Amino acid sequence: MPIRPIVVYPHPVLLEPTIPVASFDDDLRRLVADMVETMHADHGVGLAANQVADRRRLFVLDLSGGEDPDAVRVFVNPEIVEEHGRQSGEEGCLSFPGLFEVIERPERIVFRALDLDGNPIEQTAEGFFARAVCHEIDHLDGRVFLERMSPLKRRLVRRRIEKLRRSGEWPEQVLAG
Ligand code: NI
Repeated sequence: MPIRPIVVYPHPVLLEPTIPVASFDDDLRRLVADMVETMHADHGVGLAANQVADRRRLFVLDLSGGEDPDAVRVFVNPEIVEEHGRQSGEEGCLSFPGLFEVIERPERIVFRALDLDGNPIEQTAEGFFARAVCHEIDHLDGRVFLERMSPLKRRLVRRRIEKLRRSGEWPEQVLAG
């Protein structure tokens, strides 16, 4: 199960919507196994497929941060069907190394997805779980968390990233082999 390179903003694969999964085959299982390993290696709690340059619509989640093997979840073709309330909290993203910003999200959501065998799942998520699912589904829609910041904040963060890129302190965009 190889670790795959993570693509870093502003790589175009992060900014385009992904494509719904149609084949629940061995290749999908390999992708998911690699994504879980990659997420754990980078100490993330979630990873969307386009963050490893794969255009399929799925994400993996582990809110235990690798502490509990039973906490690993896979959601294929996810869609949010209900949103309730608002919450504010700090978010990071493996495609924005070192960047943490307060982002507003729904407090509670209901979402639908498929599991790795193509069986439907309907799930309610609250608090940090809801935040993480919203962040990953945004990725799959081609939306990065930058776009959830206020226009002022977004401008400041973009400027900061540009500066880091110019001075070579922002990682080069990487493509999966
Ligand atoms: Ni992210």
